[in-house]
Amino acid sequence: MESTRKKLIDLLSNHEQPYISGQQLSEELQVSRSAIWKHMNALKKEGYQIEGVTNKGYRIVETPHDLSETALRWNLKTEWLGQNLVYKEQVTSTQIVAHDLAREGAEHGTVVVAKEQTKGRGRMRRYWESKDGVGLWFSSILRPEGVEPKRASQMTLVAAVGIADYLSKRGIDIKIKWPNDLFINGKKLAGILTEMQAEQDAVEYIILGIGINMNHEKQDLFESEKNKATSLYIETDQLFNLNIVLKDLLNELESKFDLFIEDGFSTIKEKWESYAYKLGEWVTIKTQSEWDAKVFGIDEDGALMVMDQDNQIHHLYSAEILW
Ligand code: BTN
Repeated sequence: MESTRKKLIDLLSNHEQPYISGQQLSEELQVSRSAIWKHMNALKKEGYQIEGVTNKGYRIVETPHDLSETALRWNLKTEWLGQNLVYKEQVTSTQIVAHDLAREGAEHGTVVVAKEQTKGRGRMRRYWESKDGVGLWFSSILRPEGVEPKRASQMTLVAAVGIADYLSKRGIDIKIKWPNDLFINGKKLAGILTEMQAEQDAVEYIILGIGINMNHEKQDLFESEKNKATSLYIETDQLFNLNIVLKDLLNELESKFDLFIEDGFSTIKEKWESYAYKLGEWVTIKTQSEWDAKVFGIDEDGALMVMDQDNQIHHLYSAEILW
């Protein structure tokens, strides 16, 4: 990103000094007034609304709703998550880009975000519909020190709690369906795909991919998903500023990852259970056969705990559950 444009955004959105004159901008940035105009027009095209008042100057009144690299970088308050931000207009899958970068040594906390994915990946090799501009599609490269491979799958649950906390603080009634789906009103809003590169007893890196349906209207949803999926817009009737949501979400996820790395899984486990979908209800489990069981929580490893009709307790590490 061009640093003049970033500085321009900083100056225009400085709240101690609501307006800044064209003269002052050109002095601070050491470029001509006409260069300032060009940059301002480029920002307007990106969706910034800039107000100009005679004798006062200019200020930003609204940042773009659509994903924009400058808006994402501006005022990102995390310490490590997303500080190395890789922004792409279109990719096959942010997972693929993130794996390539991780193999080349990209740092812990690198985030790859794309406006559109042409081959978005879901769990179990499913396709993940990722239309241009309506959702958040991003993958984080994590290199947690001292986390053994078997604990890596807990990171999925940690991320799910981060997203759930973020949304519930905004008044949204969100549920987590084990292991990685976020649900509103019985429909899927978001999914998490965790992939790992590990040696025998050490995680080399984890690629944690998150997809959230944000500003989709009903017709934007994938045809076969129309009755099973939803978006925040469909549920709340509000359009969301994707840049603001992603930055706030990165903050929330960073603090959850820190908590998990420092204090272990127990605090997260409790929170997870407070959001659990169908806790205490009967579901059908599909292994070699299909059997009914009651969901009653997750264990210290993050496995789903269920009780069958003979009161036997099972810890499920991977299973298909017909909810
Ligand atoms: C699922 O519920 O099956 C998981 C969906 C994960 C989708 C996200 S979008 C960002 C990242 N890139 C991908 O290709 N997939 C994940």
